[in-house]
Amino acid sequence: MSYLHDPADALPAETSQLWEHNARWWQEAFTEGADPEYEEQIVPMLEAELARLRPSCLLDIGCGEGQLCRVAARVGAEGAPVGAGAAGLGAGTVPLRVVGLDPTLAQLEVAAQRQVPGLPVGLVRGEAASLPFPDGCFDVALACLVFEHIEGADQAISEVGRVLRPGGAFLLFLNHPLLQAPGSGWVDDQILGEQYWRIGPYLVEHHSVEEVAKDVWIPFVHRPLSSYLNAMAAAGLYVTAMHEPAPPGGFLARAGEYAEAAAFPRLAFLRAEKLAVPDRSAPPPRGVARPTGAGGPWAAPTGPGPQ
Ligand SMILES: C[S@@+](CC[C@H](N)C(=O)[O-])C[C@H]1O[C@@H](n2cnc3c(N)ncnc32)[C@H](O)[C@@H]1O
Repeated sequence: MSYLHDPADALPAETSQLWEHNARWWQEAFTEGADPEYEEQIVPMLEAELARLRPSCLLDIGCGEGQLCRVAARVGAEGAPVGAGAAGLGAGTVPLRVVGLDPTLAQLEVAAQRQVPGLPVGLVRGEAASLPFPDGCFDVALACLVFEHIEGADQAISEVGRVLRPGGAFLLFLNHPLLQAPGSGWVDDQILGEQYWRIGPYLVEHHSVEEVAKDVWIPFVHRPLSSYLNAMAAAGLYVTAMHEPAPPGGFLARAGEYAEAAAFPRLAFLRAEKLAVPDRSAPPPRGVARPTGAGGPWAAPTGPGPQ
């Protein structure tokens, strides 16, 4: 299958179907304990965030086969560990109500099969750029390794701002936009005797379909970090934490070629919290109209509430 495409242009609509074809690749290689970056890094980071925030209602955008929904439901059911609470969003209501949203049926079907008895997760088919929920109905919105695969991230972040309640938190996990920009990687120049991390053309938005494993083609959209931050600012989401963790030991043990580059993060995490009053000095993101009138930026409720 060939994906000849100008990387400056948005991806053709049919590429969104690639997740239907390749859901099993994700389910087998990155879930249920198969991937050290989830097991040693992403899951513990999420657990720590949830222990701190103690939400009562969480939306997982692009939930895939639901692994992080299940983590959230378990943490919510276990209650907040000792030491959490002062900075929390809610009263630590348990059980935490968790909703996973994904456009890919092949992911939602497996998410339904993998539900844990007693820890139900609501599953909704939908797109990040058009969340089928009313304004202000979630304490936490989570998106893990999703926004770098989709067009319309500005609109999706605007939607996050709309569905979060004031004071709610957005937890965003990304492939590190700077250090993992297309064309980046470790260079071991044996002629000049130099080793360094090369950074690809970071500032250039780049839309591509990559073969990530044999015959597995996945859409990617690279954008600079400022693109995400400015979209958050425009959505009334202000950053309260950023982490750039080193690749975990389990990953380095598998990816020997990465060992010398262990000081270069693969993951970027941002926590942003929704302002009670939006910052009107922030520029509106491309394609998203600046809100006007009494309805405010979080107007236009859509569809039914979380299931
Ligand atoms: C790399 S997987 C991550 C899944 C999950 N967040 C996790 O951490 O296991 C990306 C997911 O994004 C979903 N996705 C693709 N396009 C999307 C869109 N427009 N809105 C929301 N999710 C989307 C895919 O179906 C896929 O399940």
